[in-house]
Amino acid sequence: METRLVEELNKQLNRELYNALLYLSMAAYLDYKNLPGFAKYFKIQAKEEIEHAMKIYDFLNDRGQRIIIEGIPKPKQEWDSVLEIAEDFYKAEVENSKALYRIDDLAKELNDKPVQHLMRWFVEEQIEEEKIASDLLAKVKMIRNSPQGLYMLDKELGQREE
Ligand code: FEO
Repeated sequence: METRLVEELNKQLNRELYNALLYLSMAAYLDYKNLPGFAKYFKIQAKEEIEHAMKIYDFLNDRGQRIIIEGIPKPKQEWDSVLEIAEDFYKAEVENSKALYRIDDLAKELNDKPVQHLMRWFVEEQIEEEKIASDLLAKVKMIRNSPQGLYMLDKELGQREE
């Protein structure tokens, strides 16, 4: 494989791990704020990010490439509101999509068919990831300033399945 592509995939693997930590940090904050439904939602999301990282890990390994786990930066710890969390979640997913599109473009430029195939899976997955993040943001905006609405939404999010 071309070195540039291996490096970009390694970066993406580490980006997915960073997002897992970010979402776990959100879960920890939300548990502390007595919002167990929101916290469960983000714990599940964190696990999904680990799965995404492992998908790239297995792909690189199957192609005989070296996987490099970087020092993952410390994620944000505090938020002012649930709205800020939902905004950060949506922003992280949009940024993640852009990074994946760049890898897809590079794979096309270098004519690496297996990476293009892998990127098709990720591009599809990002449609879903952006949708769940934008849905959550829309719901949080809808109930802004309503404790009752927050309570109900927490119950709803607690039903998310793995
Ligand atoms: Fe790994 Fe939420 O995208």
